[in-house]
Amino acid sequence: MKYTTKTGPLANIKTECLALPSSALGSLGKQLKINTYLGHVTRDFDNAPGRTLLISLPSTCPIKRLLVLGVGKESQLSDAQLQKVLNAMAAGFKKAGFTSATASLTLKCSKKTYAITRLALDAVSSTLYEFAAQKNSTSKSKSLSKLAIHTQARDRSMVLKAVREGNALDIGASLSRDLANCPPNICNPSYLARSARKFSTDKKTTVKILDERQITKLGMGAFMSVSAGSDQPGKFIIIEYRGGKAKEAPIVLVGKGITFDSGGISLKPGAAMDEMKFDMGGAAAVLGTTSSVIAAKLPINLVTLVAAAENMPSGKASRPGDVVKSLSGQTIEILNTDAEGRLVLCDALTYAERYKPKAVIDVATLTGACVMALGSHATGMFANHDQLAEQLDNAGNFIHDRVWRLPIWDDYQQQLNSNFADMANIGGREAGSITAACFLSRYAKKYHWAHLDIAGTAWLSGARKGSTGRPVPLLFQYLIDQC
Ligand code: BES
Ligand code: MN
Ligand code: ZN
Repeated sequence: MKYTTKTGPLANIKTECLALPSSALGSLGKQLKINTYLGHVTRDFDNAPGRTLLISLPSTCPIKRLLVLGVGKESQLSDAQLQKVLNAMAAGFKKAGFTSATASLTLKCSKKTYAITRLALDAVSSTLYEFAAQKNSTSKSKSLSKLAIHTQARDRSMVLKAVREGNALDIGASLSRDLANCPPNICNPSYLARSARKFSTDKKTTVKILDERQITKLGMGAFMSVSAGSDQPGKFIIIEYRGGKAKEAPIVLVGKGITFDSGGISLKPGAAMDEMKFDMGGAAAVLGTTSSVIAAKLPINLVTLVAAAENMPSGKASRPGDVVKSLSGQTIEILNTDAEGRLVLCDALTYAERYKPKAVIDVATLTGACVMALGSHATGMFANHDQLAEQLDNAGNFIHDRVWRLPIWDDYQQQLNSNFADMANIGGREAGSITAACFLSRYAKKYHWAHLDIAGTAWLSGARKGSTGRPVPLLFQYLIDQC
């Protein structure tokens, strides 16, 4: 998707299709002298948020069609209703199948044009995304690839900023989706490493990949215990982007990159096991965010770490009862090999210490319990620092990729007690997402840290099965806000 801007009188815009709120019909009709016609063809239109109407304009008009957007009581439009309006617009574009279009989004509601534009572009990117790589279907239908945002001269600079960021976000969210949707026989740890390598074409970015020999030598015993059962070698991916001042402490993103989670010896049940190809959703999100940051040339220092491994059962796999030593020196009794995400992440979190980071955010499809708690609307957030939590909360609310904070009180820590090691890797039936976060917190004591459990938000099941690209919008917004 390519986003651009257009200025000048709306009636002079040449376009296949113009999307605009129903409230703007009157003034456009006047300018084009087609008010009677517009009144006639829109007389049955239900103006509720989420409703749209596609109409053809007389051939004398430079605008070929209008996509009319229902906006209800425009001045009282809630966030959820605005989201409906924008998703309906995107769905309207998708259904119509034009390759280019224009949108005029001056809504008389409390949100600023800048925010509305950002949300609109994200809705269009999400709705129009298609994963094409593996299907042989011949009828590849035409679809929108260029969208211009029409703006008044006074809003121009803000809309330009929104469009620039929207383009960068589209690149990152699409990459994130492509990686996550890619089948696990292709998207293995080496594939993630090759994808990451591509970032090194950017002058400010260096990429380092550690292989299993190096990972072992470093002392990442927890990471290696997960990778042990697979014939696919694990990789530890390190991307350093230097867009900020040389001395400025970086922000570190850490992604769980389990390219397939069978559960290992604690094998998962068969139903929907294919969805465990999405268990690298955290890695996909931090790699996608990194590409957005590079595309937008954000003036920050960013380090991206991906712990990439495949969790498989085999004669070499870890057993329940095994005790392993993490990079931090703390020992772990593996009571369930299906709680593997925290094992690869804890070593990555310890590795992050060497950067003396401003903040560390790890992103992981970590627990089924998080899906039970929050469903698919909010990402579970845990943090050892209130300001960091607040910044992420604000960023998520702004771009409609929301988080909900859960506690990591000491009271929960005892659930991880082990008779045979410093801690167990599971904490029993209760509060599964929290005990997973408590486990990670033991490796994140030396810096400000947040953990995002995206098990419920990273992908959709059912007929619309596929990656959502979340939480790239949230992470990219958080990083924009740091500039
Ligand atoms: N990748 C899964 C978490 C998951 C499950 C995400 C279902 C999305 C949907 C993770 O590695 C896992 O298996 N977690 C276990 C932890 C348990 C063994 C303590 C879980 O959630 O069941
Ligand atoms: Mn698992
Ligand atoms: Zn997993």
